[in-house]
Amino acid sequence: MDMAMPMEIGLLSSYGFTAIFCIAIVLLYTTLTKHREKNLPPEAAGGRPLIGHLSLLSGPELPHAVLSDMADKYGAVFTIRLGAKRGLIISSWEAAKECLTTNDVVFGNRPKTSAIQHMSYNFAMFGFSGYGAYWRELRKISVLNLLSNHKVAQLGNDLLEHELKSMMRSLNSEGKAEMKKYFGDLTLNLMARIVAGDVGSDKEVVEGDKWRKAIKEFFRMMDVLTMADVLPFLKWFENTKEFERTGGELDGVLQAWLDEHKKRNRLEESGSFMGEMIGSAEKVARAFEGYDADTINKATCQVLMLGGTYTISATLTWTLCLLLNNRDVLTKALEELDTHVGRARRVQSSDLSNLVYIRAIIKETLRLYPPAPILPPRESVANCTVAGYHIPAGTRLMINAWKLHRDPRIWSDPLKFEPERFLTDHKEIDFKGGVNFELVPFGGGRRVCPGISFSLQVVELTIASLLQGFDIETLSDECVDMRGSFGSTNMKATPLEVVLKPRLPTTLYG
Ligand code: HEM
Repeated sequence: MDMAMPMEIGLLSSYGFTAIFCIAIVLLYTTLTKHREKNLPPEAAGGRPLIGHLSLLSGPELPHAVLSDMADKYGAVFTIRLGAKRGLIISSWEAAKECLTTNDVVFGNRPKTSAIQHMSYNFAMFGFSGYGAYWRELRKISVLNLLSNHKVAQLGNDLLEHELKSMMRSLNSEGKAEMKKYFGDLTLNLMARIVAGDVGSDKEVVEGDKWRKAIKEFFRMMDVLTMADVLPFLKWFENTKEFERTGGELDGVLQAWLDEHKKRNRLEESGSFMGEMIGSAEKVARAFEGYDADTINKATCQVLMLGGTYTISATLTWTLCLLLNNRDVLTKALEELDTHVGRARRVQSSDLSNLVYIRAIIKETLRLYPPAPILPPRESVANCTVAGYHIPAGTRLMINAWKLHRDPRIWSDPLKFEPERFLTDHKEIDFKGGVNFELVPFGGGRRVCPGISFSLQVVELTIASLLQGFDIETLSDECVDMRGSFGSTNMKATPLEVVLKPRLPTTLYG
């Protein structure tokens, strides 16, 4: 008995100790969790049950404007609810820097929506694929084969100048034009030619305007969130037919291009990105499980075309709008062109390094009208800290470039279109190296846009050619309407009609 008592007491105390230990752990965990919950960024008011703040982002005001107003109320770091997901809204360069440097890998994934899954060959397009070896390899191949400075320089000499020549000829013969359409056609033709070479402009292979329509449709569908995206338990009821149809249509065009390339490749080198990708895609397919070589090739070509078309044409459109609304800036740009190029020959890519004012105009346009006012979202794979707040894994990161680019702490008179700022007090601010987070039209960190040099080359040369070639006026004396539209790319909502009078000898438009 004597012997048993201690045993029992011993047993009791051991159970008791375990119980107390467990309770302590639970209490500690709860306290810590509570503490962490308390340390979350402020959540914006106005969220509805289940859907959260989604209804506030669907109009009539554009989402970047709604989120900018919210930032005035809740600060540079706050959250909203996108159904079951938490969205982290960033509106200061300091917090953006933290997300895109210290936490860049944590925020290395893009959200997996149903639309993207069905239209991106199940995330084979590297712009949508998860952060990892497959993404890294395809990004490297794309930069080497298409987007390196060397390739961009080559491009300037032939394809771009070819496309510009035909645009100038057509504008000269028309004398009046809707420039949004011209810029849209220019970038689509250019991207198709770069990606698919002659095949991309071969009417028989391309089947008329089918691929243009398919790309347009892709962009329209890309932003669609299904109820199952925001409330995963509804996955069983999801209807994905429209996504599959759009993905299928674009695939039909890309497959026709690829078949033609394979046929021609047996006879000659095609010189296009798709042609060069045939060998690389086979290597990638052998190294990574999941996608066959043709899928990898088509997906990579598509993501580059999609990445480059609307963004560049939006930038061109906004630049021209801002110039038409700021005639003093336009006059200075013309003076720069007359001084450095003259009117006896057409401006070329080799002139661009001398056209510093035009470069500043483009920068200022990208500050005020970034084509992606809310940077393409990322999603965190682990817990992290931003601005001292606890950010749980699975949070969707949305950097509001629109708001950040208008921060009065950084930009004096922030709403004013003033290219001079990039030649004086903000001379050092650049968006190329991931050093300055005050200006992020191309994003930042490891997933920064790989098409920066390419885009600047195209935008600068197109604007320089247009200004050198024509005196441009609006149809009426009214200011150009600067309203933007819904969608991941902020396009001008209304047409941009202008009248053009030639400034150069007739022979230069031939
Ligand atoms: C003015 C023109 C352009 C703008 C403003 C722009 C903007 C952006 C932005 C904001 C991102 C997201 C970066 C991030 O998540 O941090 C991005 C990604 C991307 N862009 Fe661009 N872009 C432009 C032109 C181009 C061009 C010409 C191409 C290709 C030819 C391109 C291909 C891509 C791709 C593939 C990605 C995904 C990168 C990744 O996830 O690793 N973009 N772009």
